[in-house]
Amino acid sequence: MKMMGSTNSAITRGFLLLVIAATTLVVGQAETVVVGGSENWRPGYNYTDWALKSSPFYINDKLVFKYEAPQNVYLLPNLWSYIKCDFKNAKLLASETNGAGNGFEVVLNQWRLYYFASSSGNDCSSGMMKFFAMPLPHWNY
Ligand SMILES: *[C@@H]1O[C@H](CO)[C@@H](O)[C@H](O)[C@H]1NC(C)=O
Repeated sequence: MKMMGSTNSAITRGFLLLVIAATTLVVGQAETVVVGGSENWRPGYNYTDWALKSSPFYINDKLVFKYEAPQNVYLLPNLWSYIKCDFKNAKLLASETNGAGNGFEVVLNQWRLYYFASSSGNDCSSGMMKFFAMPLPHWNY
């Protein structure tokens, strides 16, 4: 009985340590990243280039979009709409006014491809105001 008990508590302790370690990993590495850095979210800046240089992103990282009207932030549904800058089935994440002040925050909480773009003028179709990100799970690191 006594041995059984100490085995169990050793297992419990081991499990708790694992949980704490996993939690620390996930919470500890999440970062807040301002899209475009000091350039913010604006026409004439290459966000594909920015995303490449800022990669990799991790699950639960936060992207902050700071901008002025008439910019906005859309989530495009797939690669094709991203390539074509087709906003027909896109989801408006943040309107012209949401980028003011501290900006608009998106948490990359899913393991998927996120296609971001602005629908203003030809800022997407010029190839500039769009980028994609695929956050990596922490346990893969
Ligand atoms: C933006 O940068 C990427 C990566 O450096 C490059 O491949 C692309 O041609 C650039 N786009 C434009 C419109 O300059």
